Amino acid sequence: MKQALVKLLPKNAILALKSKIDGVDMMMIRLFSKNGFLASFYYTFFSRQFYREHKAVLDGRLAYERSLALIGHTCILLRRNIHRLEKGLIMQPRRDVFADGYIFETVECYNAAINSTELCSDEKKWATDVLTRYFEVVGHNSKIDKARAIFSPRSPVGSETLSVPYAYKELPDCPVDFDQLLTLFKRRRSVRWYQNKPVDIADIRKAVNAASLAPSACNRQPFEFHVVNDSDKATDIANCAMGTVGFSDNLPCIIAIVGNLNAYPAERDRHIIYIDASLASMQLMLALETLGLSTCSINWPDVEQREKMLNTKLKLKYHERVVMLLAVGYADKDGGIPFSQKKSDSLLVKEVK
Ligand SMILES: Cc1cc2nc3c(=O)[nH]c(=O)nc-3n(C[C@H](O)[C@H](O)[C@H](O)COP(=O)(O)O)c2cc1C
Repeated sequence: MKQALVKLLPKNAILALKSKIDGVDMMMIRLFSKNGFLASFYYTFFSRQFYREHKAVLDGRLAYERSLALIGHTCILLRRNIHRLEKGLIMQPRRDVFADGYIFETVECYNAAINSTELCSDEKKWATDVLTRYFEVVGHNSKIDKARAIFSPRSPVGSETLSVPYAYKELPDCPVDFDQLLTLFKRRRSVRWYQNKPVDIADIRKAVNAASLAPSACNRQPFEFHVVNDSDKATDIANCAMGTVGFSDNLPCIIAIVGNLNAYPAERDRHIIYIDASLASMQLMLALETLGLSTCSINWPDVEQREKMLNTKLKLKYHERVVMLLAVGYADKDGGIPFSQKKSDSLLVKEVK
């Protein structure tokens, strides 16, 4: 209908019509933004902009529920609860009895996870070591004793070093000074022009392992990096976004950073995929930079048609949401870099007294 009108009407009429529609929309926004109920009414009856997010969040909650029974390469409940146990272990002062509210479900989940042939060995070892340490130090009550009775630790093959909390002083010294870090930050610029040279997947994997050290809420790390390391396919993926006009056909590699809403049993955490994935992506860009690889973040718009296109190409589930795309490659040394003046502390810092 919209496309037919665009073809039929003269340009002036289209502009006049668009301005009328925008005017009506603004009147409605003034009215419906007055309170939460009206806003929900607007987004139910006049705009479908949020409905895919609503469905994705519900699908994610369902997938979370399913993941408790079907343990895959990683187990979200185990990751979260083992992390909570670690926080209990380092508490100052540490309580004699802690985690009794969730220790039984954790051990039940652990027993299922340790038998899974799919769950990765690092996660098995971490869970085994932390639970073993927990039961060594925790006191007694009926809930804890019930969990202790069903805990059957199994040591996965792996390093002898225990994957348990340790003292701050055991961290490695920091070999990077402020100026060196600043230079790395200055070197990382959004690069849009690349040499026609393939990217070594081993370098991407190495950088992803560094990126994976980024903080994430409850250590869930609810994201994956979908690497399209073929220049024709990378162009095809980049064209699904809106911000790549003019340079999409020179990209040697694209990484789609995808957040998974199956990490959360409740809506309140639905935004965390974007935070966690972005923190890791920043580390990924810097890590790639140290390997001689340049990057450019590419905005992923929340547009239904584009989402459908990309989800089909990447075979994503509804609750897997693209956070951003990242172009990766060896920079064309003569390619331009926009100056892009940054804001400084005088604009960015608000001292709260
Ligand atoms: C979330 C995000 C989305 C972006 N989307 C695009 C994009 O679609 N196309 C593009 O050319 N650059 C994109 N950029 C790059 C920005 O334009 C760039 O980061 C900004 O201008 C600052 O430049 P710098 O990265 O070189 O410091 C994006 C950056 C971010 C963080």
